Amino acid sequence: MENLKKKIKQEGIALSDSVLKVDTFLNHQVDPQLMKEIGEVFANRFANLGVTKVVTLESSGIAPAVFTALTLNVPLIFARKKKSLTLNEDLLTADVYSYTKQESNTISISSKFLSEQDHVLLIDDFLANGQAAEGLLEVVTKAGATTAGIGILIEKAFQDGGKRLREKGYRVESLAMISELEAGKVTFTEEEIMYESI
Ligand code: G4P
Repeated sequence: MENLKKKIKQEGIALSDSVLKVDTFLNHQVDPQLMKEIGEVFANRFANLGVTKVVTLESSGIAPAVFTALTLNVPLIFARKKKSLTLNEDLLTADVYSYTKQESNTISISSKFLSEQDHVLLIDDFLANGQAAEGLLEVVTKAGATTAGIGILIEKAFQDGGKRLREKGYRVESLAMISELEAGKVTFTEEEIMYESI
């Protein structure tokens, strides 16, 4: 998706050969116009699949996920990373380990929001090692729901999360695929070109 890649080129900062800082439009300050466009692109790519709910993980997945859900005209559920004061009913949970942050979180969604009638579209900001996506898939499976696909804004193709998810048969659509990060330089993979026309 050209506008997202342009924004990454203009404002993204490669902090190291593995971490990209995008806090001017995604991870801290949010560009709503870009998020709206992203939501429309995901809704378009996953149209006519019978998606009943969009699911993401707090916090940075929420902005693109809400616009995706708005365009698909379905609810958005964001999984919690911390225990909530009011979230005290039956919880569907999974443990997610972050290699980037070297910490573990138990993510949760109330069982009243997902059931075997649901066909879910997962949305997240980054795909690195795939732990967050796999945790969300575990929660969806525990609810008895099914998964239509996974929409990712930025996939770090040099980490193996995307490969593992695709090998398991999931449809993973990433709007910007990064093959390499080095100080001051972001390289996108050629594969992403096949989606350029959307
Ligand atoms: P994984 O889920 O693919 O295995 O990713 P990993 O554990 O490596 O990363 C965990 C957190 O770090 C996630 O955010 C993920 O979005 C973020 N992350 C991973 N790689 C990068 C990167 O190169 N740049 C940035 N900016 N973030 C990255 P999170 O903890 O859920 O944070 P948030 O959603 O609350 O902002």
